[in-house]
Amino acid sequence: MSDVSVDTNESATNSEQPQSSGRRKFLTVGTCVVGAVGAAGAAVPFVASWLPSAKAKAAGADVEVDISSIQPGQMIGVKWRGKPVWIVRRTPELLKSLSAHEEQLSDPNSEVAQQPEFAQNQYRSLKEEYLVLVGICTHLGCSPKHLAKGAFEEYAEGIAEGFFCPCHGSKFDMAGRVFSGVPAPSNLVVPLYQYVGDDTIIIGSEAEAS
Ligand code: FES
Repeated sequence: MSDVSVDTNESATNSEQPQSSGRRKFLTVGTCVVGAVGAAGAAVPFVASWLPSAKAKAAGADVEVDISSIQPGQMIGVKWRGKPVWIVRRTPELLKSLSAHEEQLSDPNSEVAQQPEFAQNQYRSLKEEYLVLVGICTHLGCSPKHLAKGAFEEYAEGIAEGFFCPCHGSKFDMAGRVFSGVPAPSNLVVPLYQYVGDDTIIIGSEAEAS
């Protein structure tokens, strides 16, 4: 068992405005995460003996994450192969809103191979509700901020929630799809992952075809 970083803002991790760093708070909660650590910036203690060895991590060990405690609208961060991975539990309203701004996106249908085949859909996910993304901007590698509860409208009129990269102004929607006219050339990466049961995701591998 290890710890995972969870944003105390009910809408998500990284959901502060770029200029209001004081709003960002992480809770450290004990969850059934194997091999996961907190998102970048969060001081997250963990029980080392439950983590994969350094050798296993260097080799790219899969990470098992218990998602049962993620509330609707909430995001958690874990680390996989040294990269931040975000898991967002999207609300029905948010899922519905994804189709309303597709004309503003560079690659709304995920035609560029930035995701496994199973995620080449409108939601870019295996299950609509849960978005799993590598939290690294596809421009030069900064970590975008998650802006929720209307904060994203400052960068995309009429769109309440999304990811904004403060380094050079790239914008992504809540499926990780990049907006047109920004430096980032492609959508955020969806890693390989699979469900084992309803409440557990393994990041790093996909289910074998049956
Ligand atoms: S690194 Fe994100 S916009 Fe440049």
